[in-house]
Amino acid sequence: MEIKVFPLISEEEIQNKVGELADCISKDYAKSKLLMIGILKGAWIFMADLVRKLTIPVECDFLRASSYGSGTETSGKVKITLGASTNIEGKDVLLVEDIVDTGLTLSKIVKALVHYNPKTIKVCSLLDKPARHRTNINIDYLGFTVPNKFVVGYGLDYDEKFRYLPYVGYIEKS
Ligand code: IMP
Ligand code: MG
Repeated sequence: MEIKVFPLISEEEIQNKVGELADCISKDYAKSKLLMIGILKGAWIFMADLVRKLTIPVECDFLRASSYGSGTETSGKVKITLGASTNIEGKDVLLVEDIVDTGLTLSKIVKALVHYNPKTIKVCSLLDKPARHRTNINIDYLGFTVPNKFVVGYGLDYDEKFRYLPYVGYIEKS
């Protein structure tokens, strides 16, 4: 089986958008204790670029959320692994995600983190695939809306491949 990647969002478009998002976040959190929590592994490249374009101090952490099972469909069961040193009480938490697909991962994470008493909790996602939503999830900072295709690159993978691409594309198998 051959997998081809067709470009969807260029490196330049992504970098411009990340700059715009960073400007908004820098304004909105100018007087806050901002803690960005990236959701591994997909969000690491996006978050690395985003924090370097902020003009305010930021604390960074990561959590691991894995859907059971493999393939291109989420199973709906999400396992969350938080770093042992993560202290979110009283902080303004901004979750950084690569893509909101069904929205199940993010809504489970938000529900789980609320128990640790953050001051506020908001969501920043590079991509949104609205055709697939299965829950009401509010994205406070959004990069791009994508069509109902499986997308890769800029941190997003298919079976651990293509994360390193500087652009976002969709895959087709033949
Ligand atoms: P959810 O369906 O919103 O819970 O998405 C769970 C996770 O699946 C996302 O955070 C991504 O890591 C991954 N995912 C969903 N759609 C895609 C895609 O099109 N490409 C790559 N990963 C995806
Ligand atoms: Mg993800």
